[in-house]
Amino acid sequence: MLNRSTAPAIKKLLDETRGEAGRVMGHVPLCYIQLQESGRYSRATGAKPRLAARLPEFDRRAKVPDDTPLLSDGELEEVRDRFVDAAVLAYEIGFDGVDVKACHRYLTSDLLAARARPGRWGGSYENRVRMVLEMLDGVRSKVSDPDFQLISRLNLYDAIEWPHGWGVKEETAKEESLKDESGAPVPDLTEPLKLLEQMKERGVVYVSTTCGTPYGRAWVNRPFARGAAGAPDMPEHPMKGVCRGIELTAAAQKAVPDIAMSGFGYSWLGEFIPNVASGVIREGGAAFVGLGREMLAYPDMPRDILENGGIDRSKLCVTCSYCSEVMARGGVVGCFIRDGEAYGEIFKAYRAGKIVR
Ligand SMILES: Cc1cc2nc3c(=O)[nH]c(=O)nc-3n(C[C@H](O)[C@H](O)[C@H](O)COP(=O)(O)O)c2cc1C
Ligand code: SF4
Repeated sequence: MLNRSTAPAIKKLLDETRGEAGRVMGHVPLCYIQLQESGRYSRATGAKPRLAARLPEFDRRAKVPDDTPLLSDGELEEVRDRFVDAAVLAYEIGFDGVDVKACHRYLTSDLLAARARPGRWGGSYENRVRMVLEMLDGVRSKVSDPDFQLISRLNLYDAIEWPHGWGVKEETAKEESLKDESGAPVPDLTEPLKLLEQMKERGVVYVSTTCGTPYGRAWVNRPFARGAAGAPDMPEHPMKGVCRGIELTAAAQKAVPDIAMSGFGYSWLGEFIPNVASGVIREGGAAFVGLGREMLAYPDMPRDILENGGIDRSKLCVTCSYCSEVMARGGVVGCFIRDGEAYGEIFKAYRAGKIVR
């Protein structure tokens, strides 16, 4: 999305964001842009699915044609170079840094688990993390300004069975099952922690930890009260997902304290977000806490907690998944429950079957 022709409009958006945040909050937030290649999910932007690695359960669900070829090694080099070019543009128009995204089983995240892929981007650990590390090195070699920060959204565990999963325990012939009571593979942070160390060596200052994927492991990624239409049933209580995210993030934060980490999945906790978040931070389980859905539903929540005496329960996200559901069908993202003024008409159109990809 960020190229020479879109750069002026994106700069305008960035400047307006900073200006408005400064006016309302009294400080200017750090603004990053996420480097994302949707891979098998590229269809959402009108392109064909692009596969770095095969993931049968997910390819089937995303209706990827069986004869879709894997991207060649050369095509993946082009992807890396385009990421670096976009990062340079992000620097030129004034972003504070770039998020080298490696999560949710989009292309770079697929590569982390591409054990069966031949060539220089698959197989060994070194080959599988190559894209992330070469992106970081490429950005730093083109933008030496230390104030331009390198950050990453990183999956610690994707809850996909070995050998297709990342951050999951290797299944060996001797062990019958390495699944917990809900059927999720047992996490193993050995490789994610190794990657975090390598990120630290390259100067990454912040990692927004995450787990799962919104496509088929959504309850791991964003524990909810109601799943998106057509999504698989949730095999565990949402609290289990919230706790898993907190525990894995704490293990990573304690192992690599030099990188500031924030957790995920807190929105389901609603009015208890500040209690849980402050406890996690006090115990060193994260440097700070990130909010996803709650920021669509109730963007003033942090200010209400800090300045206005607490949370207004009538504004909380109800974790209904409609924002994800409408987005997956090509609609505009917003909170359809709490922001009817802005999104009510879009939601009505969606319910009437008028927004389809
Ligand atoms: C509608 C929607 C869009 C999202 N888009 C992104 C995205 O572009 N990049 C990303 O890293 N995470 C994205 N996420 C995931 C959130 O960042 C977050 O990890 C997830 O919602 C769980 O946190 P929460 O419980 O605070 O919502 C999205 C989530 C939702 C609901
Ligand atoms: S539509 Fe609103 S209430 Fe529902 S999950 Fe999304 S942000 Fe939360």
